[in-house]
Amino acid sequence: MKAEHRQEGSDYHVPVLLKEVIEYLQPPPGGVYVDCTFGGGGHSRAILEALGPDGRLIAFDQDADAEQNLPSDPRLTFVPHNFRHLQRFLRLHGLEAVDGILADLGVSSHQFNEAERGFSTRFDAALDMRMDQRQELTAFDVVNTYSEQQLHKLFEQYGEVTNSKTLARTIVQIRQNVSLKTIANFKQALQSVVKGNPHKYFAQVFQALRIEVNDELGALKEMLQQVPLLLKPAGRIAIITFHSLEDRIVKNFFRKGQFEEEDQAADPFGRYAPAPPLKVITKKPVVASEAEIKQNPRARSAKLRVAERNAENEK
Ligand SMILES: C[S@@+](CC[C@H](N)C(=O)[O-])C[C@H]1O[C@@H](n2cnc3c(N)ncnc32)[C@H](O)[C@@H]1O
Repeated sequence: MKAEHRQEGSDYHVPVLLKEVIEYLQPPPGGVYVDCTFGGGGHSRAILEALGPDGRLIAFDQDADAEQNLPSDPRLTFVPHNFRHLQRFLRLHGLEAVDGILADLGVSSHQFNEAERGFSTRFDAALDMRMDQRQELTAFDVVNTYSEQQLHKLFEQYGEVTNSKTLARTIVQIRQNVSLKTIANFKQALQSVVKGNPHKYFAQVFQALRIEVNDELGALKEMLQQVPLLLKPAGRIAIITFHSLEDRIVKNFFRKGQFEEEDQAADPFGRYAPAPPLKVITKKPVVASEAEIKQNPRARSAKLRVAERNAENEK
């Protein structure tokens, strides 16, 4: 029965670090949990299994496609919105605090494999990349309206593209004469600036565009800031990230309750720093086993970090 449940939605997306997430969240029967990123629902189904008949799960996903994976389960409430509005929607559903929160960041395999969503360099389609189709900004808008400086910054910071300055300058020159409407147009027009392996190069460029279009780092930060206010005592947050930018944000927030590295010079012994709102449970990020990576190569870059509401603050 359990194995059958896990199969559902697996064409859509195979959940990563599933066993580890459940071990760290330890959902007790009757607990109240949030899955910020429902997707194919693999993690949600495992949480529901652990929760027993009196539990409750609130699942967010800003992509309407995720709704096709919803099990019919009275314990589940689906919120078709961005998790940056976590607190607002929990209140709307009568919840002030919860036992645990999960976020499995980034795009699902479904989004990546649907050509017309425009996330993958493998297909030709419009430059879209919106997780939420209600949103206006698309990758087309970013490529065709951002200034050279904005493009340079985003390719450098979000994609770590080696020649981001040249890339930005070339896009701005080319777009005056050539339409950069589709993935094929875009790749064709920029062939001359590709450095190294074209597949890897465009994967980095697309990652940068995707992060910008969906304001992925902004949404993550807004959600994290609400977490300490929303966890019950000893409540836990588990986050799976897929690139270093996200991981750094999560790591710093779990350790210090802020996003930047500490200003050591201003407060060398941390004497004036307030007690962090969360206590780190995973000193190092949990990564997938070789066996999982073999079955699901997407798990290779996954990093799970877990923290708990800091009891020190309640004294
Ligand atoms: C990696 S998948 C999650 C897969 C899921 N854990 C499973 O087991 O199938 C990420 C999902 O989160 C959604 N998502 C990403 N960022 C979001 C955000 N800021 N707000 C709401 N949903 C988001 C995406 O649309 C996608 O469906």
